[in-house]
Amino acid sequence: MPPEAIHGLPKPLTLHPFPNAADHRACAEDASVALEVGQSGRVIIEIAGVCQAKCPYCAQNSGKRRRQEKTGAYMPVDLFRATISRLRKSEAFMNRRVDRVYLYNWGEPFLAPAFNEYLEILRENGLYAVISSNFQKVPDIREENLPVINEVLFSLSGLTDETYGRIHGGSIEKVLANFEAFRSKLKRQSPKTKLFMSWHRYTFNEHEFWDAYRYARRHDIGFIPSVAFLNDLVELVQAAGDQLPEHRKQDAQRDIFFDHMVESIGSYKENGTAYACPAWDDVVIDEKGKLLLCCGADSQSAVGHALETTFDQMRQDKIDSPLCKVCKQRGVAEWAHNNFHDGNQRAWPPGNKMDVLRLRLTYTRLRIKSDIRHALNRFAFGETILDVYRKLKHA
Ligand SMILES: C[S@@+](CC[C@H](N)C(=O)[O-])C[C@H]1O[C@@H](n2cnc3c(N)ncnc32)[C@H](O)[C@@H]1O
Ligand code: SF4
Ligand code: SF4
Repeated sequence: MPPEAIHGLPKPLTLHPFPNAADHRACAEDASVALEVGQSGRVIIEIAGVCQAKCPYCAQNSGKRRRQEKTGAYMPVDLFRATISRLRKSEAFMNRRVDRVYLYNWGEPFLAPAFNEYLEILRENGLYAVISSNFQKVPDIREENLPVINEVLFSLSGLTDETYGRIHGGSIEKVLANFEAFRSKLKRQSPKTKLFMSWHRYTFNEHEFWDAYRYARRHDIGFIPSVAFLNDLVELVQAAGDQLPEHRKQDAQRDIFFDHMVESIGSYKENGTAYACPAWDDVVIDEKGKLLLCCGADSQSAVGHALETTFDQMRQDKIDSPLCKVCKQRGVAEWAHNNFHDGNQRAWPPGNKMDVLRLRLTYTRLRIKSDIRHALNRFAFGETILDVYRKLKHA
């Protein structure tokens, strides 16, 4: 699930499949017809439906285990090419409202054997990639493909084997060495690519918060602290309705700031039903080409296929989905889209005054940018203003 994890998105409940999942109104369109992207939408394509890490609060593990689903596979290159070709015909891509594709959702993109080929397809289409990785393994990325990567997130849950081992598992020393080697190569070949550390805050790693910040600063990368949550939407919705299985709740209360999470979700309940979820504008595709409700959902509530369904069909099926209804009702949808906000995050642990000040400045800048973007997407002339901004940026 992509970084609206930064900007904040999660995962679904009712394990009842979406009623029309099988027949999706006969998929009237074919792959030669554009697949549009909504006004504030992003494009998220899972190139690797697998991951080697064991993060217990990631849907990759908890969701698949609960559904007793076999581990996924990789997106076939031809399916990726055909999907991009369909998206490329959309207004959103043609006027460059969307020029980047998130190459991950619930999997580890660096495991995909054809990683270079996806980048080449994006490059041929004048598009960019956003990557988030655990850096346990880094593929050999061809130098000419590095500038295709517009943004990289380095996900981290600890700085020692003890803390890191509780979530990701594996050797932190190796992960940091992999990251540093990748960063040096990237700085040489693609200095404009933005790099961030997504620091996951757990109850047991708060004492490492400022060390992680200083590590990020030493390596000249942005630092984005994020209070870890259940990123499986089903579990989030269960937690919000006090329906999480007891053993799971106990683990979550031990490791994540569970009560804080449930309370902050609850604060969005009152007007939840009326919430127009921005994720309805997203196009989220799993490794088999299924269109998902959002980056938190799995294929049990799929709303069509990347090569068949139209945007309007997809969006309407999302709005009508029972899962979206309960997700909104319980406040999860709005909470997920405001995850950046102070009320949903937690005060940082005490630290050196200069570090706190520096982080406050950079964090506030990121948040303001995100707020402006969200506001412009709602405002009548917002799209025109964003268009002008995009033209200036690409001039
Ligand atoms: C599911 S991961 C998939 C990509 C890659 N495997 C990774 O971990 O970066 C997608 C995003 O979710 C974030 N994430 C994972 N687990 C999280 C958690 N428990 N709480 C908050 N964000 C989380 C990661 O930082 C990442 O940016
Ligand atoms: S590394 Fe990413 S995809 Fe893998 S289990 Fe952890 S959060 Fe999930
Ligand atoms: S309302 Fe639907 S699309 Fe929005 S976050 Fe919830 S499940 Fe996802």
